[in-house]
Amino acid sequence: MIPQSFIQDLLNRVDIVDVVGKYVQLKKGGANFMGLCPFHNEKSPSFTVSPAKQFYHCFGCGAHGSAIGFLMEYSGQSYPDAVRELAQSVGLSVPEERDRLPPAQRAEQQAKSLALSDAMTRAGEFYRRQLRGAPTAIQYLKGRGLTGEIAAQFGLGYAPDDWQGLESVFGSYRDDAIAGPLIEAGLLIESEKRDADGKPRRYDRFRDRIMFPIRNTKGQVIGFGGRVMGQGEPKYLNSPETPLFSKGTELYGLFEARHAIRETGYVLVVEGYMDVVALAQLGFANAVATLGTACTPVHVQKLLRQTDAVVFSFDGDAAGRRAARRALEACLPYVADNKTIRFLFLPAEHDPDSYVREEGTEAFAAQVRDAMPLSRFLLQCVTEEQDLRQPEGRARAQYEAKPLLKAMPPGGLRLQIVRELAEATGTTPAEIEAVCGLGSDAARVGRFAQPRARARRQAPAGLEQRVLQLLMRYPALSARLDDDARALLLDADTGGSEVLAHLVASCDALQGEVNFAAFSEQLAQSPFADVYANVRAGVLREDIDEEPATLEFDAAIAKLLVEPLQRELTQLQSAIENGTADEAGKTRMRWLIAEIHRRKRLG
Ligand code: UTP
Ligand code: MN
Repeated sequence: MIPQSFIQDLLNRVDIVDVVGKYVQLKKGGANFMGLCPFHNEKSPSFTVSPAKQFYHCFGCGAHGSAIGFLMEYSGQSYPDAVRELAQSVGLSVPEERDRLPPAQRAEQQAKSLALSDAMTRAGEFYRRQLRGAPTAIQYLKGRGLTGEIAAQFGLGYAPDDWQGLESVFGSYRDDAIAGPLIEAGLLIESEKRDADGKPRRYDRFRDRIMFPIRNTKGQVIGFGGRVMGQGEPKYLNSPETPLFSKGTELYGLFEARHAIRETGYVLVVEGYMDVVALAQLGFANAVATLGTACTPVHVQKLLRQTDAVVFSFDGDAAGRRAARRALEACLPYVADNKTIRFLFLPAEHDPDSYVREEGTEAFAAQVRDAMPLSRFLLQCVTEEQDLRQPEGRARAQYEAKPLLKAMPPGGLRLQIVRELAEATGTTPAEIEAVCGLGSDAARVGRFAQPRARARRQAPAGLEQRVLQLLMRYPALSARLDDDARALLLDADTGGSEVLAHLVASCDALQGEVNFAAFSEQLAQSPFADVYANVRAGVLREDIDEEPATLEFDAAIAKLLVEPLQRELTQLQSAIENGTADEAGKTRMRWLIAEIHRRKRLG
């Protein structure tokens, strides 16, 4: 957990205009900056960045957030990664790391990772330069149908047939200071053999191969895949796991594909480097590949941060089915009713590269359109080998389904699958839930769902909504509420508002300089997130200074305090007119009138 106070501090030091400005061309327009929204396709700018609120908001697609949120949305980084990147840009270190490592060690680690990253960048540039002077490599790429343009876009290169190729860039491998980072980066291999002077022999890992740089979501080269041009083993040589690169979390082509993924609204997941590059050239720039490993849950999570729709493409053969099954399992924890995950099975003899070249773009697009929804694939997996005419077969199908259903979060889609499985195996959904042990989960959904539903039901309107807006914008206002007001407005037992109570408590808890963006992000994590989203939209629509805000706040609170008294008075007055009021009622009425007057004078 990164402490809120750190996030506050961080967001006070970075300027969202700088952060966004790195990726979006911004023009000053009044108090805000405007630009073309990077999160949807538009011709005229509806994307605004507010320096005062340190917040961005698109009036076209509704995207909004702080500098941290922007980095997450834009580059698909996780929250801690985005925080770390921002922190680094202003010379802060994230507390959890700060606490875990002593400063000297931390500095050392940072220097190390910089050196690795620098080595990868320079090696990538070297391989690219080498490609220009390597006719056989160029010929190979041309022979596979690639244009120079697409090769440049993916930064393809060539590692020369040389045991010490990178020496021309980095210097002698015999120098430990030079070789160290290169070995750690996986560019060099250190052999057991030693030279006459006792120095270990060091040589290039990648030789005489077409080089595919693997970039992280920020575009930095973190690894390579190298393909032999003729026959030879292995066909693809990959960077080893390094502090920068881990196959189980990285996806080839994600950086290059990110805009297309946004534009097309889905990501295509394929198995090979060449598939990604060929698809990009032939009209599917939204493709990425796992790196010779099965799709992991981390991959899925990463993809679903970029888009709501994932289409996996697999070969139609047994190996493809097995890979698909693994991908299915990786997806299950992340299925949600607003996400779609589908599986495409190509004819057995094809991979996407060969298919799109032979059958054409239209045919591949049709395959994408017809891809099998996750639910169908799951049901197929659990029933395909069972004889559903026999009780044993039906029971076995349920048995196969159990771990898959348990891996899914409870929700609409799981319920639908349970229903279909019940149908196919001649039972009821309730029996499936019992057999698969889904019951207790279902009870938990009920409990989780409750506070949200309640928060939505009493969506605040009018004055209360206004008070929430003013508080969110200027949290220090909470200090103006006296005990009397707190008792009347915040206590749920006496009809007070739960959201207001929550917001006031959150405001009270803030200390020091307050950053609107950080605060609103914190509120978005609360059970009242829905309500706060509305409130925030209101705050973003206007620019109010603190002084008028304070005046308005006091007046609104005074009015809010009078409202229940006013209601009671109206009721009593009609009771008196109907002759149903007693003496106590009349006394109460006189007190109410005086009290309302008093409060109105105060307000
Ligand atoms: P494939 O053997 O299907 O190759 O491996 P491909 O992608 O079709 O490549 P081309 O078209 O022959 O050039 C699929 C993926 O598995 C990984 C690579 O990521 C490759 O793209 N792989 C394969 C390796 O890492 N090492 C290998 O030796 C082979
Ligand atoms: Mn291939």
